[in-house]
Amino acid sequence: MKKKGFFICVEGLDGCGKTTQARLLVRKLKENYAAVYTAEPSNGKVGRFIKKYCLHNKKRLSSVVESLLFAADRFEHVENVILPAVKRGKLVISDRYLYSSLAYQGATGLNLEWIQKLNEHALHPDLAIFIDVDPEIVIGRLKRKKSVMENLKTQRKVREVYVRFVENGELVNVDGNKSKKEVADEIMTVVLGFLEKAC
Ligand code: TMP
Repeated sequence: MKKKGFFICVEGLDGCGKTTQARLLVRKLKENYAAVYTAEPSNGKVGRFIKKYCLHNKKRLSSVVESLLFAADRFEHVENVILPAVKRGKLVISDRYLYSSLAYQGATGLNLEWIQKLNEHALHPDLAIFIDVDPEIVIGRLKRKKSVMENLKTQRKVREVYVRFVENGELVNVDGNKSKKEVADEIMTVVLGFLEKAC
């Protein structure tokens, strides 16, 4: 691998297995690459604020406020974590990134271009993967509600936005309804294919 690092994000609905898969991917990549795992909301100040006051509230905040907070967290995450690691030649895997804002906040009817504009300082990912699982299945898996976003109506709308980005080629679709191993193998194939072309 050349000195330059790469930035890959993994996206999907709550309960789609994204965190497990992103961690598995990092573990496997580490055999040959300097891979690191990170996630959004981040562990920075704004990210911790979001987890505490945004996601675990009884009621959702306005989607404009959510967008502003997630964009602020992303700015810090890029500046403090992602960009320094990429510059050191690392392969950074982020569990959620910009497409989560487009899908979750966009699903409320907010203008997607406005969300993009708000995030114009965010580093563009070299590869973005969408783990596609049926909303009915993820809701069944989410026995104990962790966030204000976890209901069927929201997850259906969120998926619709993600699918738009799959259709325009920005997100690579991986069928998340298969077994854990099959999903992991498919993600690895996509990532290795990307690295072969890019390195
Ligand atoms: P997770 O830690 O289980 O991935 O959950 C984070 C929640 O935050 C999830 O419901 C999606 C939501 N979210 C947004 O709504 N917008 C964003 O930009 C990000 C990064 C997450």
